[in-house]
Amino acid sequence: MSEPLQSVLHPAGADADLIGQFAWVLFGAGLLIFLAVLALLGLSLRRHEAPLRSGLWIAGGGIVLPVVLLTILLGWSTWRSAGLVPQSSDKALAISVTAKMWWWDVHYRDPVSGREIATANEIRIPVGRTVYLGLNAADVIHSLWVPALAGKRDMIPGRVTGLTLRADKPGVYRGQCAEYCGTQHAHMALHVVALAPAEYESWLANQARPARAPEAGLPLRGRAVFFEQRCQNCHTIRGVAESAHLGPDLTHVGSRMQIGAGLLRNHGGALASWIADPQALKPGVFMPAASGIDGESLRALAAYLEGLE
Ligand code: CUA
Repeated sequence: MSEPLQSVLHPAGADADLIGQFAWVLFGAGLLIFLAVLALLGLSLRRHEAPLRSGLWIAGGGIVLPVVLLTILLGWSTWRSAGLVPQSSDKALAISVTAKMWWWDVHYRDPVSGREIATANEIRIPVGRTVYLGLNAADVIHSLWVPALAGKRDMIPGRVTGLTLRADKPGVYRGQCAEYCGTQHAHMALHVVALAPAEYESWLANQARPARAPEAGLPLRGRAVFFEQRCQNCHTIRGVAESAHLGPDLTHVGSRMQIGAGLLRNHGGALASWIADPQALKPGVFMPAASGIDGESLRALAAYLEGLE
């Protein structure tokens, strides 16, 4: 899979369309003014022996023109952006996203049982439906930005903000934390995956289930290693260990596209190297390295987690 595009100029939803229009109109207006200034500059160089009436130019070009142009642009953008105000409505699908140093804790409510379902660094949504993201931060200020779908919204500790978005076509849209939040700010990416509604429903139904029990072999041994390494002190796997929520919920970690908040593509090898030495891959991250783990146990743990789809 090629890395999905993260660009304001390739909108895939209504809000992003509007923001793309703003970008082009403001760019166009800026370009016209720039060219006009260059033309006037050229004119003034050619006519230096017969000076233009400077008072008129200062009043016209320095006051009247900017006031008129900026007022028009301000009026137009205010009128057009009225629809960008995020609104939580009954029809919108509500998902809560909490930013943490340096990953995204994403919670859904299971429509069947009413229980919360947690995932990380990935927001799956149905195509064509308005989604309301309730945003919060656990530690410092972060900012959620998925340019192809919506504008940027700060995430502030102790305060819930919101963002609505809608994807008009299926696809994977990359997002990024857009507010400096510490050493690994650059490695705080996420993906919004827009699925056909039926595909979304079956994904959600699968996420609502507790973790699959390993039958035999390496994954079964891996579940024992999970406890030997005390992974349960930070991570929840529903149906296995549910008391800690410091790190990402791993109930269906094998179904995610990436690990480490967009750092690595998710597969057994990546999981093993991440567990063996997260500090080498993402220095400063709060996950400690596995202590004294041998190769066989590491492979088993990675196989167990990879199987949690
Ligand atoms: Cu989180 Cu920058």
